[in-house]
Amino acid sequence: MCSYWIETTKNLEKEYKHLSDDIDVDVCIIGAGLVGITSAYYLSDSKLKVAIVERDSVCSHVSGKSTAKITSQHNLFYDYLINSYSHDFAKKYLDANEEAAQRIKDIIDKEKIDCDFSVQDSYVYAYSSEELFDIEKEVSAVKSLDFPCEFVKEMPMPIKTLGAIKFPNQAQFNPRKYALALCDIVTKKGIEIYTNTVVTDVESSDSGYIVSTANNSIKAKYVILATHYPIINFPGFYFLKMYQSMSYAIAVDTKCDLPEGMYINSSIPTYSFRTTPYKGKKLLIVVGADHKTGEKIDLENAYKILEKKAKELYPQSEVLYKWCTEDCISLDKIPYIGDFSSIMPNLYVATGFKKWGITFSNVASKIITDKILGNKNKYENTFEATRLEPIKNRDELGNMVKESIYSLVINKLKDSPDTLDDVGMDEGKIIEYENEKVGVYRDTNGKCYFIKPVCAHLGCELSFNNVEKTWDCPCHGSRYDINGNVLSEPAIHNI
Ligand code: FES
Repeated sequence: MCSYWIETTKNLEKEYKHLSDDIDVDVCIIGAGLVGITSAYYLSDSKLKVAIVERDSVCSHVSGKSTAKITSQHNLFYDYLINSYSHDFAKKYLDANEEAAQRIKDIIDKEKIDCDFSVQDSYVYAYSSEELFDIEKEVSAVKSLDFPCEFVKEMPMPIKTLGAIKFPNQAQFNPRKYALALCDIVTKKGIEIYTNTVVTDVESSDSGYIVSTANNSIKAKYVILATHYPIINFPGFYFLKMYQSMSYAIAVDTKCDLPEGMYINSSIPTYSFRTTPYKGKKLLIVVGADHKTGEKIDLENAYKILEKKAKELYPQSEVLYKWCTEDCISLDKIPYIGDFSSIMPNLYVATGFKKWGITFSNVASKIITDKILGNKNKYENTFEATRLEPIKNRDELGNMVKESIYSLVINKLKDSPDTLDDVGMDEGKIIEYENEKVGVYRDTNGKCYFIKPVCAHLGCELSFNNVEKTWDCPCHGSRYDINGNVLSEPAIHNI
C-alpha cells in the first residue's frame, strides 16, 4: 500500500534512468530519500561530481511514508536527555533540530517549492495524572533550555486531555512534493540520479570506494549511506546497536472542518495526528499501532484501531488511504550521524532517527556534507555514529541478542506444528513440508506462495505480517513480499 504522499504525487515523478555504465564520481550517495536528496542539494553548488543511486524510485520508502512533522518536539524527550546525558547535550539536540527545521523552511522559501508547507503548533498531551506529571517535568526541562514551550489545558483538536506541552511555530509539509522538487533542482545542476539500481556492496579501494551494483560499479572518493538502515554490516556493526519498529497510518476524510495543530500522546501506545490539505478541505492523518518489526503479535486490528481513534474524534470519518512504515531505533535513542566507522574514512552514515526523521534528515545532511566540504559543524560530535555508548545499554542489547538467538537458532531448530492444510485463506504461516520449514501465504483465491523463511541479511527466521502480507525479520527489520522480494533493508538480496 502506498502512502497518501506517494499515491498523490505519482504523476509528478520523473522517470530517472537506472545505472547502465561504470561511473567515476567524487561523491556517491546511496539512497534517494530525504537524507540522500538533501545531501545532494547541499553539495550541488560545489565543484564535486555527485551521483545518487536508489534501489526503487525517489522518496518511495520511509521518507515518503512519514507523518512529515518538521519539529524539535520528539514526544517527551528533553527531561530524559538532561537527566541521562547533560543539560548541554539536551540543548544541542534541541538547537540542532530547531536549526534544521528553519533550514527546511529556508530551502522551501528560496526555491519556491510548493509542498503544502504550513507552520503549526505541536502538542504532546496527557490522558492520566501520571502522564500529566511527566508533561509538567518536560515543560520545566524545555524552558530550562530557553525554548518558549507552554503548558496548556486545552488544544484546538477535540482530544480529551488533562494537559499538554505546546511547542509553537513547528511545521508540516508533503515530504514527497518537497523531495521531488529538490531532485529537479539538483539534476538541473548536473547531479545524476539513478533509480531501480540496487547497490550490493561498498568496498575500500586505493582512491576511495568501489560501490557495486548488479552489473556496474561506481568509483567514489566519498560515499554517503543514506539507506535508512545501513546495507553493509562490517565494520560498522549497526545491526548490534539498532532495531526497527513498524507503525501504521491512515488518511481520513472526517467530513468536518479540522483545526490546526500536530498532536501525539505521551504514553505507549502512541497515536499521532496531523492534517493535510485535500481538495479544498483537509484530511486527518492518524499514525500509531507501533510494534517491533517481525514481532509475533496480533496485527489484524492495526488499521481498525487507527480508524476507531479517528472516529472517536470525528464519527463520520472515512478512511481513504492506508500505509505502513518502519523506523530505526538506536539503543541509546540518539541518531547515528557521521563517520560509518573509524577505519573507513569518507564513508558516512545517517540512521536511527527514532521516528523523527524529517527534521533529522536535514540535521544529518548538513553534518555529513559539512564534513565533505571541510566546514566545521558544531553538532558533529553530538550524534557521532562511532560512539560506543549504545552497547552499554545492557537491557536493550540483551533483548536484541535474545531475539537474535531465538530467530537465528532456537526457532529454526523447532519443528513447525502446522502443515499446508492449516494455512487459511489470506493467511501466512511457517509450515513443515517434506521435512523442511517453508513459509506459505495462501491468497484469497486459494493460490499458495512459498518461500524459504530465512532472512538474506544474517539468517534469522522470518515471521508473517498478516496486515501487510509480508515476511518480516524480527532481528533487524528486513521485509519481503509474498514472493520473497526484498522490500526493506538491511537485506539487499531476495530470498
Ligand atoms: Fe538482519 Fe534479518 S534483518 S537477519
